[in-house]
Amino acid sequence: MTTPTPRHFLDLSALSREELRAILDEAHARKALRLDWPKAKIDEDAPLDGHALAMIFEKNSTRTRVSFEIAMLQLGGRAIVLGAKDTQLGRGETVEDTARVLSRMVDAVMIRANSHDDVLRFAEASDVPVINGLTDLSHPCQILADIMTIEERAGDIAGKTIAWLGDGNNVCTSFIHAAEKLEFKLRIASPASYAPRTQEVAAAKAAGADISVGTDSKAAIAGADVVVTDTWVSMGDTDKDERMAAFPPYAVGEAMMAHASKDALFLHCLPAHRGEEVSDAVIDGPQSAVWDEAENRIHAQKAVLMWCLGKL
Ligand code: CP
Ligand code: NVA
Repeated sequence: MTTPTPRHFLDLSALSREELRAILDEAHARKALRLDWPKAKIDEDAPLDGHALAMIFEKNSTRTRVSFEIAMLQLGGRAIVLGAKDTQLGRGETVEDTARVLSRMVDAVMIRANSHDDVLRFAEASDVPVINGLTDLSHPCQILADIMTIEERAGDIAGKTIAWLGDGNNVCTSFIHAAEKLEFKLRIASPASYAPRTQEVAAAKAAGADISVGTDSKAAIAGADVVVTDTWVSMGDTDKDERMAAFPPYAVGEAMMAHASKDALFLHCLPAHRGEEVSDAVIDGPQSAVWDEAENRIHAQKAVLMWCLGKL
């Protein structure tokens, strides 16, 4: 059976505050119900019993792939992983035809794609919910896990100051999308040529978000409650030399962390490039919550899958 109007999960900016809160609350609640359980044990209520998810990967993944597969398993459903190059997409079958076919075979599709536009085209042609598993524009699943981690470690995110140091691309953009809905302050510092897209910042600010964008890393991190960074060279980037020259002032080492609030958390979506955007001392230190953050991908995505399939 297909959902008449599929509930796609494409960007946090498309969700209402209530929907975002419901997803986060479900993620926290479901995590609490299975503390210390074996990881492949199915949740008592098996809410997605009989459901199947297809995952299409145009780019590499460790966390997104494993967390979605385990998420479906824990919810009582099944996941099928497709490398884009192994499918007929890799031989030129259109995104739209692929979406029509998969809509007849599975209940939801997660896509990690080079182009956000391709995910939008897929969703437009799909009769089943489509989930953005990272594009050039955004990474909404990651930010749900980040917010969940902040709430676990530091309580309500409203009013907190989050400092983003580094590339203003996909992960940063999803923080921009969440800022107004969850009422946190976002302080972004990037090299001018790697700043976030102005239209995303402008739209968030127009909706009431408290966001600043600049080039001064110390100004952005001053007094922050949470410090976040990401790789300097994302998948698909071809200007590695320029990036390696531009980003060192945004590296998060102990001296940089000392400008944040005393108990500030450190987050990173991973994979980390130790010695580049983050030092060993910070990522392995007491302020780092990166392993909880990675685990929370499972719990957050379970709630996303349930929301997409009308169970929330
Ligand atoms: N953070 C994240 O999305 O990791 P993967 O690229 O391993 O999926
Ligand atoms: N910005 C990174 C995130 C990886 C999870 C990339 O796009 O490669």
